[in-house]
Order: sequence, then structure tokens, then C-alpha cells
Amino acid sequence: MADTGTGKWLPSYQGFPQAWGPHPRKRMLMTPLLVFLGGIFAFAVPTLVAAFFQLMFFNAPVSNNWAPLSASAIEGRKVFVANGCVYCHSGYTRPQDVRAGLLYLYPRISLPGDFVSNDSSPNLFGTARIGPDLSQDAGFHPDDWERAHFSDPRFVEPMSIMPSFAFFTDQQVEDLTTYLQVRAGKDGLLRYATELYAKKVQIIANGIEDPPIGFQGAKLTLNDVKDLAENGSNPPPGKIFGLEWPAPLNIFGVDRSYWLADNPLPVTKENLLRGRMVFQERCIGCHGDKGDAVSEAAKFLRPMPIDFTSADDAGGGDDTSAGMLYYRVLRGIQGTAMENFGTRLRVDDIWRVVLFLKTIPNGGLDPDKVPTTDMYIQWQPPDGLLELVKNMPIQKNVDFTEKSEPDDPFVLAARRFLAGFNNDDKFDLPGFGELSLAAARDGIKAIYNQLLDQGWNDYFTRGGSPSVPTSQRDILPAFRIDQR
Ligand code: HEC
Ligand code: HEC
Repeated sequence: MADTGTGKWLPSYQGFPQAWGPHPRKRMLMTPLLVFLGGIFAFAVPTLVAAFFQLMFFNAPVSNNWAPLSASAIEGRKVFVANGCVYCHSGYTRPQDVRAGLLYLYPRISLPGDFVSNDSSPNLFGTARIGPDLSQDAGFHPDDWERAHFSDPRFVEPMSIMPSFAFFTDQQVEDLTTYLQVRAGKDGLLRYATELYAKKVQIIANGIEDPPIGFQGAKLTLNDVKDLAENGSNPPPGKIFGLEWPAPLNIFGVDRSYWLADNPLPVTKENLLRGRMVFQERCIGCHGDKGDAVSEAAKFLRPMPIDFTSADDAGGGDDTSAGMLYYRVLRGIQGTAMENFGTRLRVDDIWRVVLFLKTIPNGGLDPDKVPTTDMYIQWQPPDGLLELVKNMPIQKNVDFTEKSEPDDPFVLAARRFLAGFNNDDKFDLPGFGELSLAAARDGIKAIYNQLLDQGWNDYFTRGGSPSVPTSQRDILPAFRIDQR
């Protein structure tokens, strides 16, 4: 291997056997025409199969969940398109998107049959998800929340990046809200009907006015808000086991397991600080940066957000055990703008923010202080609640021979609203009537049917196609276990 530098040590290399003939002529065999036709062919076949054949031969059967849009919702849909909502909000969920859809607790995989009518053209599928998918947003918030959110999303969601739409007319706000509340098909109509029913009960039990429509609320001042909070409510007379309205409603809205529950976390400085951070990131929009419920959002919301500055309420309020506060943050309060944070906050952080709430009367939110353990106010069950628990024991009288989950979606929706009720509990709410699971079931069902009929009538009137057999209308909505 002495002369490796010359490469001579390699055997001489022959590319092909001597016996092979000469190379073919050096030119492309495909003519330009063939390239052109081949290109067209390669483009046309997939387009034909993936697009045109689908259009011609794929007639998706109308899904069980499909429900036509009302005339107002059609107007709202136009506002939605014209203002670019569709660029940030998609309108369908694929199986792999369903976890993202969990924001609403009731994700649903979209079916082709959800989007069949000519009202859905052009389809508002959208591609970007800068904001959450809105195909199942219906009934997640009441209308008053939507209005405050359109006016300025930061009013209700302090960290939101959604633009403000404060230039809308009142009519546009109402139509757009209707569109969002009815676009999710029957499942969404059931949730929206439950919100509407619960709102009626909340308004009467609190003795307050209906929320202002459109952007009317924006005309109020913060002083008006203060005044309304102090003098704007006139709850109905009468008591339930010694409790005045609306305390019983607040308690009946909470699963009994939480009625007397205390906070499982110790009152430490770390827990309180973390709780304060959560409060400042998520809650001050509505509950106010001083925790006194004087906020921009409060102008739009009825019932108004709760004032957390009262020591009496924190310490002895009939309906303010740590467990009950926790449940309301975890599940939201139906018929009010109080949001369901269960899918957005960790369970331990919810307990921490609830710990923190009970330092607010002693300056926990004071910008010059940090919350300390001696600011914490320990809640003691008041006599009124103990009396109620004597009559409505925490231990539910469950009959295990009975099927524990009824199929009727309206019963399930009623149970979601009045989570603290047993089947046979029944009270009179003056100015409203019977408050019970059976009455709530009937009330929710009536509103649901009204919403559905409105959509169907408007669909006929505008000659909507395809013509869907009316038997489709009678298929019940779904209320899934994860929605309860
Ligand atoms: C620049 C992107 C963007 C545009 C444009 C936009 N949004 Fe949003 N939207 C968001 C983001 C981000 C959120 C999540 C934060 C929040 O709740 O504000 C959101 C939240 C929402 C929610 C609340 C979802 C929920 O249940 O918590 C609704 C409803 C909504 N948008 C409707 C609309 C409508 C209607 C329009 C058009 C008028 C619109 N958005 C325009 C980004 C956008
Ligand atoms: C979109 C507005 C809004 C936001 C955001 C909001 N709340 Fe509320 N909250 C309300 C309203 C409105 C009520 C009053 C409901 C009622 O009167 O029954 C309420 C009630 C409550 C209650 C029940 C209080 C009681 O004494 O019965 C608790 C606890 C609560 N909120 C905690 C929170 C926490 C913690 C956050 C942040 C993680 C938060 N809220 C964010 C609007 C909001």
C-alpha cells in the first residue's frame, strides 16, 4: 500500500459489460403534449374523486341533532360572517378536536348531517382556532354574558385577545347572540332552554329586573351599578325552613355533598397567594378588581356578580360554605353569568381561589398587601342552614332498585340546574310557582319545543331545503353523562 496517493492500487473499473449495445438516443421520450395531458389527468382525478363526486353523490342524511335556524339566527349568521368571527372561530369538531371542545363540557363530534340545509351555505367551518370552536357553544353562557363579552371580551375574560365589537347595534347583538345559542342543533337548544328557564327562576328569586338587551347596559355608569346592587333587588316574601329568598335557590343549585363541606386545603400563605393570582387572572372582570362587584361587566349582567367584601357573608352566610363556593366555581351557576370553570381551572386552584375569597373582607385584594393567614375568615354553618339540612338531609334517599339515570334528557337538564333537589322536593317560589324537578323538567321542555318550533316555522316560511320529514323533529336531544 505504498502508493495509495495515486489510486493505482484500485482495480480498473468498468461501468458496463462490453457486450452491451450503445446508449439509446439522448432525448426525452415524453412529448410536451403527453406531459400536458398527464398533468391535467393527475390533477383532475383526485379533484373529481375528492370534490366533485362528493358533491354529486354524497347526500348526507340529516343528523338526529340537526335543527333549522330561526329568522333572527339567520340574520345573526350574516353578522358573524361580515365581522370576521369565522376567521378565529371554527364551526365543527373532528374526533381529534374533541378534547379542545371540552371547554364546554359537552363536546360533540360533528357529523356531515349537521350541516345539510341550504342555510348552512357557505359553510362556516372555518380553519383557524385562535378562539374556541363555537359549534357547541350554545347554552354554555346566558345571553347577558354574551352581550358583555361582545362589548369588550376583557369585561368577562380578563386575558382575552378577542377584539371588542362595541360598534354593533342592539339588533345585531341580539341576532348574533341568537345565532350562537341556536346553531348547535337540538343538544344546544336543550342547554339554551335550560339557561332561559334558570334565568327566569334567578330573576324572580332575586327580585331583580331582566338584564338589559343589546348594549343598553353600556349606558350605565359604575355608580348606577353600585346603586343597583344596593337597592335594585326586592326578593319575594316567604321563607324555606327559615331561609329567605334567594338563599334557598343558591343552596338547591348545589349538590348536597357540598353543603357543609369545608375547604380541604390548609390556610397557608402560598395557597392564598396562588388563589389571589387565579382571582386576578380570571375573576376580576365581573367581580371587580376590589372584589366588590362594581365592574364593567356588572352593567350587563342580571343577577349581578357577587360582592365578596362582606365579612358577614364570608363568615356566616347561609349559602357560603367553602364547599358551596367551590361547587359554583367548578360548575358555574345556571341562569347567571357565573362561568363554569371546571374545564379551565385545576381542581386544586379552585379550592385555593375559594380559600382566598374569604380574605377579601380583610384586605386580601389590597394592592399594597399580600394576603396573610390571619385575614382568613372561617365559615360557621348558620342556624338557617342547619335547619334546612335537618329537613333535607345530605344523605339522599336513593332507591337502588330504581334506574338511577333516567333517559329523559329534560329530567337530566332539570337535575343539572337544581342539583340539590331530590325527586320529591317541592317548594313554592312566590311570583313563579312550583320549584321542583318535575316542574323544571316541564318548563325546560316547553321552552325547548318553542325554540325548535320557531326554527321549523321559519325554515318552512323561507322555503328551506332539503325538506326534512317532521319525524326528525320528534327525535329527542341528547344529554350526555359528561354534561351533568
Ligand atoms: C382575533 C380572533 C377573534 C375574533 C375575530 C373573534 N373572536 Fe371570539 N374569541 C376569540 C378568543 C381568543 C376567545 C377566547 C377568550 C374569550 O372568551 O374571550 C374567544 C371567545 C369567544 C366566545 C366565548 C367562547 C366561550 O364560550 O367561552 C364567543 C361566543 C365568541 N368568541 C364569539 C365571537 C364572535 C361572535 C365574533 C365576531 C363578532 C368573534 N368571536 C370574533 C378570538 C376571536
Ligand atoms: C362573567 C362574569 C363572572 C366571572 C368571570 C366570574 N364570576 Fe363569579 N359570579 C358571577 C355572577 C353574575 C354571580 C352571581 C350569581 C348569583 O347571583 O347567583 C357569581 C357568583 C359567584 C360565586 C357564588 C357566591 C355566593 O356567595 O353565592 C362564587 C363563589 C364566584 N362567583 C366565584 C368566582 C370566581 C372564583 C371566579 C374566577 C375564577 C368568578 N367567580 C368569575 C359572575 C362571574
